[in-house]
Amino acid sequence: MTGTMTEMITILIFMGAPGSGKGTVAQHLKEKYVVSCFSTGNLLRNEVKEKTAIGRRVEGIIGVGGLVGDDVVNGIVEKNIEKVAAGGKGVVVILDGYPRTEGQARVLDGMKDGKFRNSIHVIELDVDADEVVARISQRRVCAKCGNTYGAMDKIEICSCGGELIKRKDDEEATVRNRLKEYEKATLPLSEYYFDRIVKINGKGTVEEVVKRVDDYFDGLGIERRR
Ligand code: AP5
Repeated sequence: MTGTMTEMITILIFMGAPGSGKGTVAQHLKEKYVVSCFSTGNLLRNEVKEKTAIGRRVEGIIGVGGLVGDDVVNGIVEKNIEKVAAGGKGVVVILDGYPRTEGQARVLDGMKDGKFRNSIHVIELDVDADEVVARISQRRVCAKCGNTYGAMDKIEICSCGGELIKRKDDEEATVRNRLKEYEKATLPLSEYYFDRIVKINGKGTVEEVVKRVDDYFDGLGIERRR
């Protein structure tokens, strides 16, 4: 990893169907590696929670499992990347759930006059549809900090003390719609990123999946926390 400040940012895109484990894996890796991480789903849900103008605009779309417009999402991501890039050299960012359309991928490639383009790596978590529907039906999230829990987590309250609730877009019909959107708009990105993508088996226990992604991160030379 060489270059000047903005060139030294490394971007790791987590791609995968709804429920494939993007957020869960990112949650674990954040603790092990010196990385910043943001999820466009969480950022958008926060806008809804705070009842901002963006939140009011996107609430209905998220509620039916549609995709929010590229203009809104690109704006949010650019602002957040600017913020972490200002942190200095060698910054590593995990993008959970962005880009999801070819339009978004092109905007990301074009940011900072294309300076990020060569430091983008895409990790696609591969899990079949029945498994993701089963996982999502058991998912609970913390109403306070947004942490995610699954069937294997036998707890009633988040470690931060927050209440665990079901996400509004986790009803089965909405999940099926999100899967359709994923197949239509996002899966074709694997071709767009053909020279930058690695497919990782997302099946097995969380520890097994995290270990596979760990190996990939170590191969890239991402710095571990001490
Ligand atoms: P977002 O929040 O990103 O939803 P998603 O992509 O559908 O992904 P999920 O959060 O459902 O799943 P995940 O892969 O993170 O899985 P998780 O780790 O939770 O987006 C929500 C909405 O926002 C979108 O529908 C769209 O409207 C909008 N949006 C967001 N980004 C956008 C963009 N770029 N453009 C346009 N619109 C956008 O795991 C799922 C469950 O499984 C959990 O309970 C977990 O504990 C469990 N689990 C995880 N791994 C395992 C394992 N190995 N074994 C067993 N259980 C596991």
